[in-house]
Amino acid sequence: QTVHHLILGPVWFIRRLLLPPVWTKIQNKTWTADSQSDQTLLNRIYTELYITEGQSEEVNTQHEVRQLETASKMETLHDTPIRCQDIFKALPDQQRHIRVVLTNGVAGVGKTFSVQKFTLDWAEGLENQDVSLLVLLSFRELNLIRDEQYSLLTLLHVFHPTLQKVTAEKLAVCKVLFIFDGLDESRLSLDFNNRKVVSDVTQKSSVNELLTNLIQGNLLPSALVWITSRPAAANQIPPSCVDRVTEVRGFTDPQKEEYFRRRSSDEELSNRTISHIKTSRSLHIMCQIPVFCWITATVLEHMLTTEQRGELPKTMTDLYSHFLLVQTKRKKNKYHEGHETSPQELTEADREVLLKLGRLAFEHLEKGNIMFYQEDLEQCGLDVTEALVYSGVCTEIFKRESVIFQKTVYCFVHLSVQEFLAAVYMFHCFTNRNTQVLKKFLGEEHVDSNLDDFLSAVMYKSLESKNGHLDLFVRFLHGLSLESNQRVLGGLLGQTENSPEVIQRAINNLKEMNMYYTSPDRSINIFHCLMEMNDHSVHQEIQEFLKSENRSEQRLSEIQCSALAYMLQMSEEVLDELDLSEYNTSGEGRRRLIPAVRNCRKARLIRCRLSEADCEVVASALSSNPSHLRELDLSNNDYMKDSGVKILSTGLESPNCRLETLRLKNCRLSEISCSSLVSALKSNPSHLRELDLSDNDLKDSGVKELCGFLQSPDCRLETLRLENCGLSEISCSSLASALKSNPSHLRELDLSDNKNLQDSGVKELCGFLESPDCRLETLRSVLGVLISWVFKASRVKTCEY
Ligand SMILES: *[C@@H]1O[C@H](CO)[C@@H](O)[C@H](O)[C@H]1NC(C)=O
Ligand SMILES: *[C@@H]1O[C@H](CO)[C@@H](O)[C@H](O)[C@H]1NC(C)=O
Ligand SMILES: *[C@@H]1O[C@H](CO)[C@@H](O)[C@H](O)[C@H]1NC(C)=O
Ligand SMILES: *[C@@H]1O[C@H](CO)[C@@H](O)[C@H](O)[C@H]1NC(C)=O
Repeated sequence: QTVHHLILGPVWFIRRLLLPPVWTKIQNKTWTADSQSDQTLLNRIYTELYITEGQSEEVNTQHEVRQLETASKMETLHDTPIRCQDIFKALPDQQRHIRVVLTNGVAGVGKTFSVQKFTLDWAEGLENQDVSLLVLLSFRELNLIRDEQYSLLTLLHVFHPTLQKVTAEKLAVCKVLFIFDGLDESRLSLDFNNRKVVSDVTQKSSVNELLTNLIQGNLLPSALVWITSRPAAANQIPPSCVDRVTEVRGFTDPQKEEYFRRRSSDEELSNRTISHIKTSRSLHIMCQIPVFCWITATVLEHMLTTEQRGELPKTMTDLYSHFLLVQTKRKKNKYHEGHETSPQELTEADREVLLKLGRLAFEHLEKGNIMFYQEDLEQCGLDVTEALVYSGVCTEIFKRESVIFQKTVYCFVHLSVQEFLAAVYMFHCFTNRNTQVLKKFLGEEHVDSNLDDFLSAVMYKSLESKNGHLDLFVRFLHGLSLESNQRVLGGLLGQTENSPEVIQRAINNLKEMNMYYTSPDRSINIFHCLMEMNDHSVHQEIQEFLKSENRSEQRLSEIQCSALAYMLQMSEEVLDELDLSEYNTSGEGRRRLIPAVRNCRKARLIRCRLSEADCEVVASALSSNPSHLRELDLSNNDYMKDSGVKILSTGLESPNCRLETLRLKNCRLSEISCSSLVSALKSNPSHLRELDLSDNDLKDSGVKELCGFLQSPDCRLETLRLENCGLSEISCSSLASALKSNPSHLRELDLSDNKNLQDSGVKELCGFLESPDCRLETLRSVLGVLISWVFKASRVKTCEY
């Protein structure tokens, strides 16, 4: 008990709070406030976690902005919110022991804050007092010793010198909690396939091995482990090692408003800020992230209080351009009223630092890094001892965070700021013909491109990304091509030429862009780019389309389909049925509509030549939270094959999946598909009522696999269609024995068009038909010989042959 007060007394802790400015402000108010209510409010706003047991596929593969878009509709869910203090406690209906918890959340949403809140409450003796030692380690600190060898015990001593007195014996008997914060910032390569077992706390090993063994429970098996991560990096930990996955959700709509009201004592200002945010869908969605609220509020408050004429920003590019300017000017204290409209507000020195930061942002965006060390800065020509740190040009954009060993870590205040500066840098390289950078990024052929060709080359490059890591970057890049945004940044982008013809060509390119073989999710970003370029034509056309009566007569272009998919997906209302054949468009257009499956109850994606990338979107719809899909018809997709079903199965096995009807007629499936389906359905068995696998060459071995599911006591299947699947009596025999052990659900069985199904096959089934629990009402088969048998079995009303 004495130990933890030594290392984590509240004073020490508060000094170490590494919070963005938004929190510092509220924090001052709260920690110094006497009233209990403020503190409660802080707890409620920042530390509410939503439990999602299990991990959805989507969480790992989607760009954060898209996750936010989907997440913005999840507020009303039945998910159980839990206080962060309770994350190691099982829910009332759960028996299991929770040892390893993984907490996900997008950048800036408050993961570190949750960790700190937990720690503080523990150190103050309020919560989790059964834990006798709590060790908080951030990955950004662990990175510094990634190549060194430590034992777990010495690691503790190095990071927390006050723990010198803790010995291996003490460690073995006390209850320890390790918190590893910021897995996404890790530059270790956690290798869970490494077979080296480390079980002794004094055994020297690499940091990677120490961590994997601790997480897997080989080392200190009784220790609790809490890991936080941005979703994109969370898949480094195999789901089998994690007992509970939680998510920090950020602000709900009322919390967003509360934030703006608490920020400013000027009520009218808050009201104007709030009402402006409500007019822009993309801003409103982004405000789910506390840091984004802060960015927006900074810009809007500045613009609204300086009587600046002109429109308030509505696009992301517009907002971030102003943010950059406001922060740079504010720091330099050079802001004079009346000079507002002057395009040359940034000094030469400002520009130089911002461009170097842009280079850092860009080079690391490509590598997926969001934390930087001094070496990284130096490589981009940023001298940490000069302008950057001491002039304070952009401490509000780029943060310095001191850590151990006198080494310093830096990061942008939010990933989106990094993406914006990266786009600024890339645009600058384009206007200044920085051949080297352009060649490296886009290849030789784009070194001398026009603006429109350049934008389209970057767009194509971003479409190739599986997780969309360049989505926001490319959105900003398109936004920066507009003169209005270039004016805000005054000279930062270099000599730009703005001919309306070139801009129009760029817009047309977006509208005509083709993207075969890439994920249909990526295509929606093309539509966002149009919005950043202030082209609302497609958006308006689709609004008209949705209102019109003659939809099937109107031909939709590909870009219109992307817009439609986005709007359907974002609609408050869940679509009753999405039938792609009802839309009058090309094959590519039809594919682009697929993301809308995330927001409908019935989906018919028949004869669409579904690819694996498309199946991934469908699987993500099945595993998303909440998943609305109840009926899914994917028949006649002959490219689908076993590989497609394998991907689909990752969705079917998700606990969020509530699918009741699945049709996979004629998709060129083999027994391999049966085995993927069965393993998925066995882990989530109780929803499916109808399964149609007709016209696939499943053979007896496939049916044998299926029987593994049919006989499971949780299987509630009522209809099974296996028409023309190349079955023989062997299948009948497997079916009969499986159904006998779980007889009371199946109502309809279709075995027609299986030419090798002899009389003897149906006879096999009769054992089941006669069983008193058999509820079969319809049996279809080619043979009529055994009708009398069939009717003797009481319930079968229809028997076709
Ligand atoms: C708020 O906290 C920050 C950082 O801890 C400090 O610099 C600032 O002076 C505080 N402001 C007030 C009003 O206490
Ligand atoms: C701000 O909005 C609130 C709620 O909509 C309203 O009650 C209040 O009168 C408004 N205040 C001002 C100064 O406009
Ligand atoms: C469909 O209806 C709209 C009015 O709702 C009309 O403007 C349009 O021309 C019609 N399109 C076709 C193809 O009939
Ligand atoms: C598709 O739209 C075009 C253009 O409006 C129209 O000519 C055609 O008849 C439509 N096709 C169908 C099947 O309705």
